[in-house]
Amino acid sequence: MSSVVYPGSFNPITHGHTNIVERALSLFDHVVVAIGTSVDKDPTTYLAERMELCRAALGHLGDQITVEGFNGLLVDYVRSKNTRFVLRGLRTLTDYDYEFQMLSMNQSLDQDIEYVLLPTAHKWSFLSSSRVREIAALGGDISNFVHPAIADYYKEQAQS
Ligand code: COA
Repeated sequence: MSSVVYPGSFNPITHGHTNIVERALSLFDHVVVAIGTSVDKDPTTYLAERMELCRAALGHLGDQITVEGFNGLLVDYVRSKNTRFVLRGLRTLTDYDYEFQMLSMNQSLDQDIEYVLLPTAHKWSFLSSSRVREIAALGGDISNFVHPAIADYYKEQAQS
């Protein structure tokens, strides 16, 4: 069975991420959605909650996907999943520069690691998790960007 690791902060998972997972399933039998935390990113949403929200958003894909958290180096985690493939979405040229730097660093740590870069669907190319969090925190409607379970989660957070 061919599998690919899709790493990210997923804080929260958006329709843009879901679209990447769905399309990757025409290339791989299984996608491992691997939730890490970038040192530069706001980790305010706890890992367990991000995992639960990812599972809700991807529930329609059944056992074709697994959602896990990971610490440490991505290359070590990918190896532990018995694959060498890493999936990432590209929204803009800025993403390309960033991803190219990340993949080059990771390939210098492990030269067998191979990246699969899928262009983000045009309609989601403007989307970002931090903007979604900002809109939610200011009481805006995020239901066009995320699964209903995630919109409900942020609504409850804003009310508490
Ligand atoms: N649709 C919509 N948005 C998308 C998207 C898509 N298809 N693909 C990416 N994005 C957005 C995300 O929402 C996120 O937005 P934000 O910046 O507002 O949060 C942004 O693009 C990219 O972030 P993300 O995909 O979460 O990745 P990241 O850059 O935060 O990296 C890890 C997270 C876990 C992959 C990375 O930190 C990592 O590899 N950590 C392991 C440690 C390691 O090995 N370090 C050495 C690396 S060389």
